[in-house]
Amino acid sequence: MGLFRKIVNQTRKPEGFLGKMMLSGMNSGHVGMADWGFSHLPAIAAERAVDLGCGGGRNAGVLLKQYPKAHVTAIDYSDLSVEKAKAYNQAAIVEGRCAVQQGDVSDLHLPAGAFDLATAFETVYFWPGLEKCALRR
Ligand SMILES: C[S@@+](CC[C@H](N)C(=O)[O-])C[C@H]1O[C@@H](n2cnc3c(N)ncnc32)[C@H](O)[C@@H]1O
Repeated sequence: MGLFRKIVNQTRKPEGFLGKMMLSGMNSGHVGMADWGFSHLPAIAAERAVDLGCGGGRNAGVLLKQYPKAHVTAIDYSDLSVEKAKAYNQAAIVEGRCAVQQGDVSDLHLPAGAFDLATAFETVYFWPGLEKCALRR
C-alpha cells in the first residue's frame, strides 16, 4: 500500500505512528466543522450524552463543557482513538463525568433510551450503513 493510501486510511481507523499523528491532527483540524455543528445543538438539559466515533476525544470534551450537568460517553473502535480520547478527557474521567469505551457502532448493545443526546462528527461515512449502527430501538 502506498504512503498516501496508508495516511488516508488512518482517518477510518487510526493505528500506529501515523494514526497517532492523524488523531492529533483531527483534534485540531476538525474544530471549525465540529464547532459549527455544536452551534446547532439544542439547548437541552442533557444528562447523558454520547459521542460516536470519537477519535481523539476533543468533541467529547466540548460536550462536557456545553452540557455541564451531563455525563459524556465517548465510543470508538480504534485502540488508539480510545487511548487518545481518554488522555484528552482525563480530568473529567477522574471526576466521574466521562467514560471512553471501545466499541464498533454497528454492534453496540446499549439499552434503549440510554442517552438523551448523541453526536457523531466526520465518522458516519465510514460506518457500514446507518440503519445497522448506533443505538438500538
Ligand atoms: C475521521 S475520524 C473523526 C474523529 C472525531 N469524530 C473527530 O471529528 O475528530 C473517524 C473516527 O471514527 C472511528 N470509526 C469509524 N468507524 C467506526 C465504527 N464502525 N465504530 C466505531 N468507531 C468508528 C474511527 O476509528 C475514527 O476515530
